[in-house]
Amino acid sequence: MAIYSFKILYLGDPSVGKTTLRKRFMGASFNENYIPTIGVDVSVYNMKIDANVLKFLLFDLAGQVWFKDVRKDFYTGANGAFIIFDITNYNSFYNVANWIREYWTNTKWGNPFILIGNKKDLEHQRKVPREVVDEYIKVFEEKTGYKIDYIETSAKTGENVQRAFNMIVKKIAMAKKRVQ
Ligand code: GTP
Repeated sequence: MAIYSFKILYLGDPSVGKTTLRKRFMGASFNENYIPTIGVDVSVYNMKIDANVLKFLLFDLAGQVWFKDVRKDFYTGANGAFIIFDITNYNSFYNVANWIREYWTNTKWGNPFILIGNKKDLEHQRKVPREVVDEYIKVFEEKTGYKIDYIETSAKTGENVQRAFNMIVKKIAMAKKRVQ
C-alpha cells in the first residue's frame, strides 16, 4: 500500500470561516461562536483509492495580520490552498489579491488554489456581487494566465463544502500531471 500526502492551506481574512469550513468538512456541526485561530490548526483527512491512501493535511492559518511571520513557515510544501472571503464582507474580498500574493510568494507562482466565497447562507446580507467576482477572475486570467476556479459555500448549511474539496483535489492532480 502506498501513502501519498498533500498539504492544503485555508487562507483568508480573519473570521471569513476558515476554521468552520475545515471542521465542517471533517464532519463537525456548525458553531456560531467565533474563536480566532492562534497560529495554526491542523486536521488529517484520509482518502482510500484502490490500494492507496491519500492523506490530506489541512492547515488552517490564523488570518490576523500580526500572524504573518508565523504563517510563513506553514507555506512550505503546500500543494494547494483555499483562498476564502466572506460574501457579506467586501474588505475580505478586496484582500484576496494579497492572499494570492502571499501564497504564491511563499510557495511558487501558479501553485493551485480554489477561490471560495463563504457564508452563502447569508445571501440577504451579500456585499460582494457575483458579477464583481466574475470580473475579477476574468481580469486576473488576462493578466497572469492563471484560471481561478470559484465556488460559493456555506459552512453553516454544508452547501458545496464537499464540492470545494473535490475541486482542489482535481486542481492539484492536474497541476501534478502538467509537470510530469
Ligand atoms: P480566524 O481564525 O480569526 O482567521 O477566523 P476564521 O476565518 O477561521 O473564521 P471562523 O471559522 O472562526 O468563523 C468566524 C465566524 O463566522 C464564526 O462565528 C462562525 O460561526 C461564522 N461562520 C463561518 N462560516 C459561516 C457560514 O458559512 N455561514 C454563517 N452564517 N456563519 C459562518
